[in-house]
Amino acid sequence: MDADELLANLHAAVPLVGPSLLAADFANLELEIRRAEEAGAQILHLDIMDGHFVPNLSFGLPVVEAVRRVTRLPLDVHLMLTEPTRYVRRFREAGADLITIHIEAVPEPTALLREIRRLGACAGLTLNPPTPVEAVEPYLEDCDLVLVMSVMPGFGGQSFEPVALEKLRRLRQLDARRLLLSVDGGVDTETIGPCGEAGADLFVVGTAFFSADDYAARLADLTDAARAVRDVEI
Ligand code: DX5
Ligand code: ZN
Repeated sequence: MDADELLANLHAAVPLVGPSLLAADFANLELEIRRAEEAGAQILHLDIMDGHFVPNLSFGLPVVEAVRRVTRLPLDVHLMLTEPTRYVRRFREAGADLITIHIEAVPEPTALLREIRRLGACAGLTLNPPTPVEAVEPYLEDCDLVLVMSVMPGFGGQSFEPVALEKLRRLRQLDARRLLLSVDGGVDTETIGPCGEAGADLFVVGTAFFSADDYAARLADLTDAARAVRDVEI
C-alpha cells in the first residue's frame, strides 16, 4: 500500500486511537501487540528517543524491525531525535509507515519531509507545547499529518496540557480536511473528547490504554468519547 492509500484509509477510519508502545510491557511486546490488535487498534505509535532531543531513551531500529515482523498494522513512528535526517531512511526500511519529525529539531523541514515521502512513508511534523502553530504553517503542504504534543515529550504518564486544543483548532482552520491531525500526551477517556472536538483525528494513547485490564473495553471507551463530541458537532 502506498502512502496516499494508507492516508485515505486512515482518514476513513477516524477517530483512530493509536496505542503508544512506550507504555506496553516490553518483556511481552508481541503479546501486547496481539492484544492491541484484538482490541481493535488500527495503528500503533512508536516513540523513538535519543537522550538528546528529549531527556530520555526509549528504543530504536531493532525494535521497530521486530514490531514490523509481528504485525501488519501501520506503524506511526515519532522521532524525538536531534538529527532525524540521519535516520529516516533506516526507520522506513525498518518498517515505519508514518514518520514524524520535530520542527524544533529541524526548523527548515521541507527537504526532509519530501525525503520521507520519497521513501514511501507518510510525512509529518510534530510540535511541542511551547511551539506555536506558525512554526509549522509554512510547511503544511509537505505534510500528510501534524502531531500536536500535549505534553513535553520524553516520558509517558504526564498530564494533558490544554494548549494543544487551541493548536488543533487552528490547524483544522488552516486545513479543513487533508491533514491527519494527531495528538499525543496525557490523552485518556477525559481528555480525548475535547481533542476530538478540537479537530484531532488520531489520538495517541500510552498509559491510558496499556494500564487497562481489558484493552478492547478501554479502546471502545476512548473511541466513543472521541466520537461523542464529534457527532454532536456534526
Ligand atoms: C511522549 C510520547 C508519547 C507517550 C504518550 O514523549 O511521545 O507518545 O507515549 O504517553 P501517555 O499516553 O502515557 O501520555
Ligand atoms: Zn509519541
